[in-house]
Amino acid sequence: MSTQTKKSSFSGGLGFVLAAAGSAVGLGNLWRFPTLASKYGGGLFLIVYLILVLTFGFSLLITDIAIGRKTGKSSIEAYKMVSPKWSFLGKLTFAVPCIIITYYVVIGGWILKYMVASVTEFAATSSDDYFVNFITSKVSPIVFMLVFLAITSFVVYCGVEKGIEKFSKYIMPALLIMVIGIAIFVICSKGESGTGFDGFLKYITPNINDLKTESGKADVVKIMNLLLDAMSQLFFSLSVAMGIMITYGSYVKPDVDLSKSVKQIEIFDTAVAFLAGAIVIPAVYAFSSLGEIAKSGPGVIFVVLPDVFAQMGIAGKIIGPVFFLMVAFAALTSSVSIMEAIVGAGVETFKLDRKKTALAVALISAVAAVIVCLGYNVLSFGISLPTGATGQNLLDVLDYISNNLLMPIGSLLTCVLIGWVVKPMWIIDEIESSGHKFGRKKLYVVMIKYIAPLMMILLILQSLGAFKFLSK
Ligand code: PHE
Repeated sequence: MSTQTKKSSFSGGLGFVLAAAGSAVGLGNLWRFPTLASKYGGGLFLIVYLILVLTFGFSLLITDIAIGRKTGKSSIEAYKMVSPKWSFLGKLTFAVPCIIITYYVVIGGWILKYMVASVTEFAATSSDDYFVNFITSKVSPIVFMLVFLAITSFVVYCGVEKGIEKFSKYIMPALLIMVIGIAIFVICSKGESGTGFDGFLKYITPNINDLKTESGKADVVKIMNLLLDAMSQLFFSLSVAMGIMITYGSYVKPDVDLSKSVKQIEIFDTAVAFLAGAIVIPAVYAFSSLGEIAKSGPGVIFVVLPDVFAQMGIAGKIIGPVFFLMVAFAALTSSVSIMEAIVGAGVETFKLDRKKTALAVALISAVAAVIVCLGYNVLSFGISLPTGATGQNLLDVLDYISNNLLMPIGSLLTCVLIGWVVKPMWIIDEIESSGHKFGRKKLYVVMIKYIAPLMMILLILQSLGAFKFLSK
């Protein structure tokens, strides 16, 4: 029986923007973005990424949010309302947060562990095998994951306005202050191998030679990889194609200017990603060597940075914990949004009580996440994926299925549905319904009909390993 009285909502435009930015700003910004920027020589990657945010990212984000507000529903019900024949797309989209939650909270637990350890055993965290020893241990990753999941569940349990909005209103400004503060500190610092400022210049200066082969010709393979990597980064970073922004959009009041809100979310998300790069790259440049980022790949915040903090001496003892606190904040607001996408849809589709649904989702996620933790010891299998990655465990496989397959497939189908079946006017009407102007309207139509679907097809092909020959 339904105990729902009225639909939950954000109190206004700002509450929505901060909650959506809370979802968007996460590990993708603080962890993945700096690694990619460093891989493609900084400046050039920044330019490509920025162009993609303003065109491709913008179109996907505004589509999700407008579908949510227009239908007033979460993923499952929303797609049913857009077109009953396309209701399968709602289920496919709903599957994404269900998969992601199981491993996002595991990584959230790792961050909490580092936050605590950077205070209690600062020196130890900088040793090379600390990270591997930790994630492969049997009990500790589960305990930290459960703490992270408990905080996430508590916020979702408290509801949209009293939980998610309130939480984001405090956390997001705090996060922004920390990321700016640490970036300034790092850029002004001086290490064994150089100054932070030189590292910063290296980060922002485009170097066209980075995209040339040794013989001076354009390196097509590298350019193609840069584009594909920037696109998939954008996807993950803006939290699109997983029902989250549809759910959050359904909580937005009719008078809010969506076009402006999307602009603000994009600016927030991109600014934090840029600043994260302005921390990681100059810090590693000054206190270690940039080659370390390439060597450790995604391990950069758990392996390279603790070492950098140790090199900083006393200052590192403060910067280290503050850095991990900031990452924990970012990860928490993201995991809250993942869980809300599940709970919101559950409440709506099965007419369930919100609080009970939140508890049930928390419980099921806990069991699944324990299994993901065990994927690093008793359940470790180390398989290869079509992308060419080897030695992959449960967490990587789940990440591959959700991010590399389901998200681009869902997004491609959404572009077809909006661009060709119901037509872009369906979205444009919603954006203009509040009486505000839709600034990038023409661009939107071209993107959603032609360019975004094409990009999605490329991404899907890449995930299936079709371009593996390029990296040979
Ligand atoms: N957008 C978040 C980030 O940049 C991650 C995220 C992924 C959030 C999936 C929600 C769902 O890290």
